[in-house]
Parts: sequence; C-alpha cells; structure tokens
Amino acid sequence: MIGDCPASCPFVASADALRFPPGQLHHVASVGPGGNTEVDETKRNVLKLLAVAGVVAAGGGGLAGGALQYAQPPAVGLTSYPKVPLIDLDGSPLTMKKTMSEYSYLTSDVITFNYPLRNEPNFLLNLAPPPGKTGGPSSVKNGIGPKNSVVAFSAICQHLGCPAPNLSYYPPGTCSATPGGKDLYLHCVCHGSTYDPTDGASNLTGPAILPLPQVTLEWNQSDDSISAVRVDGPPVNGHLDTLQGDYPVGSTSQLQKQNAIILCAFPPE
Ligand code: FES
Repeated sequence: MIGDCPASCPFVASADALRFPPGQLHHVASVGPGGNTEVDETKRNVLKLLAVAGVVAAGGGGLAGGALQYAQPPAVGLTSYPKVPLIDLDGSPLTMKKTMSEYSYLTSDVITFNYPLRNEPNFLLNLAPPPGKTGGPSSVKNGIGPKNSVVAFSAICQHLGCPAPNLSYYPPGTCSATPGGKDLYLHCVCHGSTYDPTDGASNLTGPAILPLPQVTLEWNQSDDSISAVRVDGPPVNGHLDTLQGDYPVGSTSQLQKQNAIILCAFPPE
C-alpha cells in the first residue's frame, strides 16, 4: 500500500500513545484508517488480576490456588538459543546463493521468519545490489555473506509493538524523507519510528528509542545454508525475555513473504 499521510495519520491521531515507555508490555491489535485501535493488554491484565483477587477474597483460601493457577500465563519458551536452519519460500533450504539473487536493497518485499519463538517474526534483509548491478550501502554492520550484506532484525517495532508489515523496509527513493540522513531505513507506519538496517537497526527517529533486536545469522559455506543462532539487543517487544512467551519454532523456520505497507509520513525530527 503506497500513499501519503492524511490528516488521520496514526501517529498524529494517537499522541497519547507516545507517552507509553518503550518496551512496555503492550500489544497493538491493528491500525485502521479511522484511527488508533490499540489494545492496552497491560491494563487489561491488571483488571483481570483484580477481578481474580476479588474472587479469592470471597471464596477463601481453597479457591485461591485454582484461581491463581488460571491467572498466570503458561511458562513456555527456551533456556538457550537453538541453531535453526532457514527454509526458503519454496520449501527448500535457504542458501546464500539464492538470498543474493532473490533479494536486494532495492526491493521492499517483507521477507520474515520466526525465531526463536513462534510469535517472534524477524526481517531477512540482503542490502547488496541485485546480480549485475552496483550500488547499495558501503557497509552493513554484522552483515554476513560474500558481500557482508545479509542481516536479520526483529520485525516488531520497539515502540508499541506494531509488527511487520506495519514495520517495513523502505528502499532508497521510496519517500522524499531521509530520517537521520539515511536514504534506506525501516519505518513503522503506526507512529513513525525509523531504524537503520546498516547499523544494527539502531533507532534513527522516535518515538521508539531502542534498536530492533538483531538475529545473528550463520552462513555454512560447505552447504551454503543459512541458520539463525541467537538474538542480541533488547528483548523483543512484548516479551520480558526473548526466550520466553511462546513455543519454539522447531527444527527449521520457513520464510514468509508479505507486501510492504508504505506511508511517506514522519514525525518531526
Ligand atoms: S509502534 Fe509506535 S512507532 Fe511503531
């Protein structure tokens, strides 16, 4: 979706939302053209617990154990980061050769994979030019591959948790804006935060102030495969710990493709 920011642009209409501290457990259900549809799960959970406390007070100690048992989310997750090979869109193992030929810094397609948990999507980005072309960033921090250009970052915004494709990669020339002086960046249409994929997804402009967590990728040159091996940086938004909060992805993780949501509107820097 490509368009200009109307008067109802989400970040204009939801100034109150900007007051939430970054990283707060807060889930944005969706963003509609009519305005903000955020769901403050933190507040909702507090109300649920207060309701449970009332039941406990009325029912006595015998009821307490059972009620509190259901008030707690199940403890699911991992104790350490697994090595998870990535699978291409067509179901075959993802190779560096295919990554370099199918993806480039000029394409805005949203390519994601879940890691290490099922509810933790991450961008896969190749910031090198397409085969036979020149150009692109002069360097990509922590990039792997023959051009040190392949990186992966959490696809959940560090402000209030809007996931891709609300958070999308913008190739050079997508908008006239150059947040932080950059001509390529990740942009969240929910409230306008931008991140620099050439610099570890450091935050370029707010309201987010934290970088996106970075997935460390490993390139096995003997079989050309690519695996996710760990996540560094702040916890994935919505998780107190990146390793906790859902079930693991399993022995492999397959790429998924979505269309980018592009909105050329940005908060003032
Ligand atoms: S959720 Fe607010 S800028 Fe992304």
